[in-house]
Amino acid sequence: MALQDKDRIFTNIYGLHDKSLKGAMSRGHWSGTAGFIKKGRDWVIDQTKASGLRGRGGAGFPTGLKWSFMPKEPSERPHYLVINADESEPGTCKDRDIMRHDPHTLIEGCLIAGFAMGAHACYIYVRGEYMREREALEAAISECYEAKLLGKNNKNGWDYDIYVHHGAGAYICGEETALLESLEGKKGQPRLKPPFPANVGLYGCPTTVNNVESVAVVPTILRRGPDWFAGFGRENNRGTKLFCISGHVNRPCTVEEEMSIPFRELIDKHCGGVRGGNDNLLAVIPGGSSVRMVPADQMIDTPMDFDSLSALGSGLGTAAVIVMDKSTDIIRAIARLAAFYKHESCGQCTPCREGTGWMWRVMERMVEGRAEKREIDMLFDVTKQIEGHTICALGDAAAWPIQGLINHFRPEMEARIDSYTYRSDKDGAVLEAAE
Ligand SMILES: Cc1cc2nc3c(=O)[nH]c(=O)nc-3n(C[C@H](O)[C@H](O)[C@H](O)COP(=O)(O)O)c2cc1C
Ligand code: SF4
Repeated sequence: MALQDKDRIFTNIYGLHDKSLKGAMSRGHWSGTAGFIKKGRDWVIDQTKASGLRGRGGAGFPTGLKWSFMPKEPSERPHYLVINADESEPGTCKDRDIMRHDPHTLIEGCLIAGFAMGAHACYIYVRGEYMREREALEAAISECYEAKLLGKNNKNGWDYDIYVHHGAGAYICGEETALLESLEGKKGQPRLKPPFPANVGLYGCPTTVNNVESVAVVPTILRRGPDWFAGFGRENNRGTKLFCISGHVNRPCTVEEEMSIPFRELIDKHCGGVRGGNDNLLAVIPGGSSVRMVPADQMIDTPMDFDSLSALGSGLGTAAVIVMDKSTDIIRAIARLAAFYKHESCGQCTPCREGTGWMWRVMERMVEGRAEKREIDMLFDVTKQIEGHTICALGDAAAWPIQGLINHFRPEMEARIDSYTYRSDKDGAVLEAAE
């Protein structure tokens, strides 16, 4: 059964209602907030843990557990909450809808999450291209200061300031430590971990970086209780979730649904199915561009959650579901992603800096078929030399889409090489040597 309206957290995700503070309050936001603060830090963390909430930024790390890593005792170093609103993963477009249409869900969440980790200040790092989103967020934050919901001696009983920082538009600044570098005014390049941000984060102080959606759902979880949230989805994959479905469906959309909803139900209910019918499905990239694709037969009845998709060698990632029908040139689609990762590599580590360019160049030849079959194995081997050998996960993100292609569509790659060779032989052209 699909998620019912009464169980939706984001009741204004399409911007159909009043997004102002007054409108948000009429939909139940900002109610009982001071009471949650009165119950104390540990209570908020325990409730969040009990809800089973896992981070919505891609990796799915348990949110309450992450908050518990922040030092318990106050020291001279301030604590910070940093919200990752960089949202640059191709296919992902959910955080922007929260910020432009339902900003108070995030702002109330920032106060409560900040309190849970002993922070009095929060920075929201907004993607460079998100102008309207930043304006909506800033307007909503101003309303909260005016209404004394934020700031010193506010009505909620926890002094709290929120600052919006506008990025300059780089995918790598979504990686949490690159984001911190960028916030500090430096070049956005990932840091080596450890130390982890909970010990040495922003300006060397204890910091937690969370995705917009992870934090925006927390106030409703506290209001309705962790059992309500944990009542959706399967074991270890709990709650409601924003899915952004793009590509070859009849009606692409962002929709809040129950975690673990089967793929078929998700696209039939909300997107009018695959263009040309569900039999026309070729493959799906289910979690934003950084995960391995899943071919149609394996995808169609799979529950959309962390564990089911990782069992298929893929992942839920940001739940950006990229649907590709049989008209897709699947080799070209992955070559386009290879170009993206090459462009976005920050260049700090050799396997990523050199490897993303190398993979892209080979992928461009694979699109034409201007390659040799043994190069498919060589390409796979190079993805394995990048995966797990870099400072941040961009290296893995660049490797996995190509691995997915080779795992599932090798015959198509070989057929393309055969047809190029046939044409070349016929025309008397000489096949270029492998790079
Ligand atoms: C290259 C790269 C880009 C990322 N981009 C984002 C992003 O735009 N938004 C986001 O929330 N997390 C992004 N992440 C994940 C963050 O590093 C971090 O795990 C996340 O913000 C943690 O939030 P959560 O625990 O609430 O999920 C990215 C990671 C990598 C490696
Ligand atoms: S993996 Fe790539 S993006 Fe990440 S730090 Fe290394 S070079 Fe930079």
